[in-house]
Amino acid sequence: MRRKLIAGNWKMNTLYSEARHLAHQLVRKLEPTLRANPMLNTVLCPPSIWLTEVGRIIERSPVELGAQDTHWESSGAFTGAVAASMLHSAGVRHVIVGHSERRRLFGETDDTVNRKVLAAFRNQLRPIICVGETAAQRENGKTNQVVLGQVRAALQGALEAAGGAEEFTKRPPAVAYEPVWAIGSGNPATSDDAAEVAGLIRDTLEFELGQREAGPIPILYGGSVKAGNADDFAACPELDGVLIGGASLSVEDFSSIVEAFGRHVVSKTGPAGETNPKAESPGERPSEVPSN
Ligand code: PGA
Repeated sequence: MRRKLIAGNWKMNTLYSEARHLAHQLVRKLEPTLRANPMLNTVLCPPSIWLTEVGRIIERSPVELGAQDTHWESSGAFTGAVAASMLHSAGVRHVIVGHSERRRLFGETDDTVNRKVLAAFRNQLRPIICVGETAAQRENGKTNQVVLGQVRAALQGALEAAGGAEEFTKRPPAVAYEPVWAIGSGNPATSDDAAEVAGLIRDTLEFELGQREAGPIPILYGGSVKAGNADDFAACPELDGVLIGGASLSVEDFSSIVEAFGRHVVSKTGPAGETNPKAESPGERPSEVPSN
């Protein structure tokens, strides 16, 4: 069974003191749950300027650090941009790539998303690849075509960039199905609809990458996930977690969502090859984390 991935995307929110406070409170609240249930993998994605500070606060906890974006080049004259190698050297282990806000507001294309995914793999970061259709695409019956096209484009050349199939399965990407119309709208997809698209994404991953390589890839749902509807998504066997925007800024809401997934984890057996980056250094391995 794949570990459940619950990622909080803080977007462009929090001042310095608020980010510190939120991280401290979340660690305090989540640590007992996460230590008791190593099948839960929780990632905080604060604004890039707070990454090192939030990283310090969560360092000794099972909570992991993610960035909201990366550039595809490794260094150079790219004013304002942050390279994947910089993120990794700051303790970041996950990076959101291709969020619909970046596609829509910052002109990202399937090509730039793919370049960012490859940069993430080259720098031992796990990309959380966001895909999803707009309301108009859905109305025109284009959901599957759009979503599966984005999945295929994002992962072109990924096995090579990761350094081969074995390395890829050690640090698999995640795919987050986020219908654009559901994000921040208070109108989530039904869990049945999300499960159906997740099933097609899984088939596509297996076809494109191979069954063994696709096996450890968690498929998430994102878009208006709240404490009140998290159980529906947690109960879906096709879904391995959620990407949360607004509700990730509330300690109570975010931890309720993590706990909802905790209630639905039935097996303690980890997937082949997946590692908890925090368990790699001696002394930090939570006693029950699967060793493979
Ligand atoms: P939301 O955002 O939870 O606020 O709808 C989700 C996302 O943008 O990933």
